[in-house]
Amino acid sequence: MIITQIVAVSTNNYIGKDYQLLWTLPNDMRHFKNKTWALPVIMGRKTFYSLENKPLMGRLNIVITRQKDYSAPGITVVQSIEEAIEFCKQQDFKEIMIIGGGEIYKQTLPICNKLFITRVHAVLHGDTMYPEINPEEWNLTFEENFESDAKHEFAYSFQTWERVEL
Ligand SMILES: NC(=O)c1ccc[n+]([C@@H]2O[C@H](COP(=O)([O-])OP(=O)(O)OC[C@H]3O[C@@H](n4cnc5c(N)ncnc54)[C@H](OP(=O)(O)O)[C@@H]3O)[C@@H](O)[C@H]2O)c1
Repeated sequence: MIITQIVAVSTNNYIGKDYQLLWTLPNDMRHFKNKTWALPVIMGRKTFYSLENKPLMGRLNIVITRQKDYSAPGITVVQSIEEAIEFCKQQDFKEIMIIGGGEIYKQTLPICNKLFITRVHAVLHGDTMYPEINPEEWNLTFEENFESDAKHEFAYSFQTWERVEL
């Protein structure tokens, strides 16, 4: 099973502030929807909160929390990352998408094979960071660059990174 992280991250590795993103990039929202459509999306409880506790349509929403009595309509609740992965394996998914946030990205990076990173070309400050990627462990296999425009306040690049095979 391919385990993929999908994230949008500033030049200096920030991903959010006060439960929100640091930018408005509609093309990245479309990219996120296309890449995750029909796949399981695994997220931390705080990222689910940042989605106003509403599941993403057309995808199996799995929310990780340590709380024993947590529930919300339209989601599957699990109490560990291992449980989330096992649940998806049992359902025979070929790829799962880790959609954040900072805590979940950091803990799952060692078990991921692929990263879809939207690099937002701006130095911005938030309260949540994406972990540092070790360039010896990852190959950049795809990159598409976009300038800022009337609808996109910053330039950005869609990147695919794949784990170096040892
Ligand atoms: N730019 C992007 O692409 C992007 C994507 C997603 C999110 N974000 C941003 O990231 C921020 C949220 O990230 P965050 O790091 O604060 O929180 P998070 O990773 O979304 O969620 C953290 C929560 O997940 C649960 N959790 C974490 N590790 C766990 C484990 N090993 N076992 C069981 N439960 C575990 C805990 O929930 P409980 O406290 O309930 O136990 C923890 O409080 C927001 O600002 C959001 O907007 C940005």
